[in-house]
Amino acid sequence: MPGQLTAFGPGRVNLIGEHTDYNQGLALPLAIEAGVTVRARVVDGREVEAVALDLDEVDRFPVGEPGRGEGWRAFVRGAVGELQRAGVSLPGAHLEFSGTVPRGSGLSSSAALEVALVLALLGLAGEPEPPRIELAQLCSRIENDWVGAQTGMLDQLAALCGQTGHALRIDFRTLEVRPVPLDLEGHRLVTLDSGEQHANARGGYNRRRAECARACELLGVESLREAVPEMARDLPDPLDRRVAHVLGAEERVDEAVRALAERDLPRLGKLIDQEHASLRDLYEVSTNAVEETVQSLREAGAIGARIVGGGFGGHVLGLLPPDATPPSGAVEVTPGPGARLL
Ligand code: GLA
Repeated sequence: MPGQLTAFGPGRVNLIGEHTDYNQGLALPLAIEAGVTVRARVVDGREVEAVALDLDEVDRFPVGEPGRGEGWRAFVRGAVGELQRAGVSLPGAHLEFSGTVPRGSGLSSSAALEVALVLALLGLAGEPEPPRIELAQLCSRIENDWVGAQTGMLDQLAALCGQTGHALRIDFRTLEVRPVPLDLEGHRLVTLDSGEQHANARGGYNRRRAECARACELLGVESLREAVPEMARDLPDPLDRRVAHVLGAEERVDEAVRALAERDLPRLGKLIDQEHASLRDLYEVSTNAVEETVQSLREAGAIGARIVGGGFGGHVLGLLPPDATPPSGAVEVTPGPGARLL
């Protein structure tokens, strides 16, 4: 059993396919270089002590009885609780973490933290790593059952399965993850902060998920993956628009995969724009601050710009041609490897 180790979980951006994961659809995310680092060591006794270095906050709880916590504490207690429920015998531990993905940014600092914590704790316990899909399912239970955000598995699969130089085509019905080479021919992907924080465990996100579940009930289908565009038309507003977004996003994912294979960057840019328009008008998860941020990316020459992640604030993703100067504050993102022990 190693006494001390360091684990890293990356954030993610998603090229196309937002709010499709909990509808068993398709998405095309990539793990990014920024993320969360967890340093962990075994300590005597049966207590976990966790330190959020960026916030200068501490949490302590008995390893066998993590109990509930708020904010970042819910993630740590959830990681300890879920691993033990999965039969992992955990030692007393000191954990400390810090991140380079801003919280509430839409770049999934949550999944970055979950996956880094879980890899660190598995390492301390001296357990072999289960398949990454299983780990993603475990991390998603932390989010659903401990944090209270009814999120799907987009973020966890992207953070765990990321590959340098690749996006991932994920099919959430089969959980097949297929790496897609991301050759942007000199174009750059950048993110720009809208200045507005979002929180998936609050309001809007869970409401959208409930609307999709209601649409399934009315349509008599298990998931929206089984629905076709004609069916959406008979639904009452806004459910018809929610379903139209999800079904459109699925088509855009495979079109984007084709555009990448053909190195058709203008086409990829158009698809990114269409995804944004759909998230704004049909799924209604944009805000004024996000629209202004999209606008500044366009003015800088972006050939596609859109909100990323759950919405209601957070960062905007832009695709910039080789000669464009990114607006001030924009950060370039490149596809990096998935979560790992360092
Ligand atoms: C958040 C959730 C994901 C996914 C996206 C929207 O990031 O955590 O599960 O639903 O929103 O695509």
